[in-house]
Amino acid sequence: MNAIKISKMKFGCRLFMQSRSVLGFIKSPNPIRNLHISSHPFLGLRCAIKQTHNHFCVSYPKWRQSCCSSSSKSSSNKPVHIVDYSTTLETGVNDKNFESSYVHGGGDSDEPAGKTVVETEMEKEAWRLLKEAVVTYCGNPVGTLAANDPGDKMPLNYDQVFIRDFVPSALAFLLKGEGEIVRNFLFNTLQLQSWEKTVDCYSPGQGLMPASFKIRTVPLDDTKVEEVLDPDFGESAIGRVAPVDSGKTRLWWIILLRAYIKITGDYAMQERVDVQTGIKLILNLCLSDGFDMFPSLLVTDGSCMIDRRMGIHGHPLEIQSLFYSALRCAREMLALDEGSKNLVRTVNNRLSALSFHIREYYWLDMKKINEIYRYKTEEYSTEAINKFNIYPEQIPYWLMDWIPGEGGYMIGNLQPAHMDFRFFTLGNIWSIVSSLSTPKQNNSILNLLESKWDDLVGDMPLKIIYPALEEEEWRIITGSDPKNTPWSYHNGGSWPTLLWQFTLACIKMGRIELARKAVDLAENSLYSDHWPEYYDTRSGKFIGKQSRLYQTWTIAGYLTSKMLLENPEKASLLFWEEDYDLLEMCVCALSKTGRKLCARGAAKSQILV
Ligand code: GLC
Repeated sequence: MNAIKISKMKFGCRLFMQSRSVLGFIKSPNPIRNLHISSHPFLGLRCAIKQTHNHFCVSYPKWRQSCCSSSSKSSSNKPVHIVDYSTTLETGVNDKNFESSYVHGGGDSDEPAGKTVVETEMEKEAWRLLKEAVVTYCGNPVGTLAANDPGDKMPLNYDQVFIRDFVPSALAFLLKGEGEIVRNFLFNTLQLQSWEKTVDCYSPGQGLMPASFKIRTVPLDDTKVEEVLDPDFGESAIGRVAPVDSGKTRLWWIILLRAYIKITGDYAMQERVDVQTGIKLILNLCLSDGFDMFPSLLVTDGSCMIDRRMGIHGHPLEIQSLFYSALRCAREMLALDEGSKNLVRTVNNRLSALSFHIREYYWLDMKKINEIYRYKTEEYSTEAINKFNIYPEQIPYWLMDWIPGEGGYMIGNLQPAHMDFRFFTLGNIWSIVSSLSTPKQNNSILNLLESKWDDLVGDMPLKIIYPALEEEEWRIITGSDPKNTPWSYHNGGSWPTLLWQFTLACIKMGRIELARKAVDLAENSLYSDHWPEYYDTRSGKFIGKQSRLYQTWTIAGYLTSKMLLENPEKASLLFWEEDYDLLEMCVCALSKTGRKLCARGAAKSQILV
């Protein structure tokens, strides 16, 4: 019988030293790091790829390339699927040296020019912890650990760099005037995109990126060790979830790329051939035809921040708002030439269709509930009012009492005969940030958050979902998940990392006081509680049952919120305004179909602007 093997590719970088922890240079600056290949993270970094085999998978050719050994490797040995950086342009970013700024305690003097801000004890501690969470690869900072709790004996995969978790860390660094770690992260993860990868015997397509990666130190012989960048494309992830937000279609990556360029002014970055190719690969993945009838992205359960079974398969709001932002980012960054003309047209059409779809069909307020409550069902016609055949009996009892007279929100998911009426905080906040929802809807969402403060914020901002699934629903929908018991973790737990996104949305809508109120609340306990990952109970009063402490995105989210509040003008680099061209495209497209009702609906929703 032919042996089937798993092939697992890894980047490698050889180091001439006895041993060295990933964070070694941060804790004790080590002269050995001078032996690294290059001071520039990418121009000189020729990473090796290592291939290991074990049973049960298809075998691939074996080869290896090392960055430091003298016997390695002319460019002719370059593996074909490694991006060629020979086209690299010099960056225009005016970085300060990362190590002097962040590793050797120079952080305090690194305020952006023109602003002197006195850091509180809490902020100082947060910066210290954030720096300690920095992970290096071949001597260069490339990301931050998900959590860095010295007391945690079972870190599972929290000792990895998660793509989505790194976003607030990246923003904190960028807002502090430090771009190098972000640039390195973007490049390293971009390279991973072109790797050949397999999960069991299946090789997913190009464009895929890992949800997380880890830098391992592997001994080569008595004197040398090799650092290996080991990605998780889902083959080790708990539940084998497909992280669409950061892995599968790399929505966060592209959003971060745009933030990096806007904040640093490094526009040369987006002109690079490899970056342009990366953007196109992402677009190809997101825009490829499927069986779907909707412009929204169809995904499996656990495909985003909620990376466990929680009944979000289908078209969850969080993915749609990240998808919308990523498309807007791509459109901004794509080099306009003959070759990209069609792609830009496709992106514009999708943006326009997606915003119409979400604004029209996901929006919920008292008036809309009343419409649904009186829906007729089983309508067969292009003119149907109840297009998705929603049975009014689906409206949950809690909602009828809960919905305020003022305000509204986007529902969590929409599919034939199914509306998920739960309030998903990240999806709603990111709809505001990305302008997926109309300005009027944006304000209404914040009104609802304000009027339902006790439920959605309580003692710790912010609840990830409201309300929690309980009893039979919990058993069926989560599969009796003991981590996701009612009002815990992803099932109604409170996640302080959401603070930065909330702050951004509030600043965008001119509701700074609301953001301040949330940040003040977080300040009451985050520091003394040691920066938990999440809080439990209805009001978010207790540190989560299995919550990590010293969770990096909690720390970074807090710092980013503080800096955004101190420099609200910077926030405008991170959100999007209404795009009237897109609206017009949608109204035109609808009127061409000649469906009067649709056109009326469109006009109505566009007037909401
Ligand atoms: C948990 C969260 C996920 C996060 C990861 C690392 O799995 O559900 O969203 O990325 O921890 O912090």
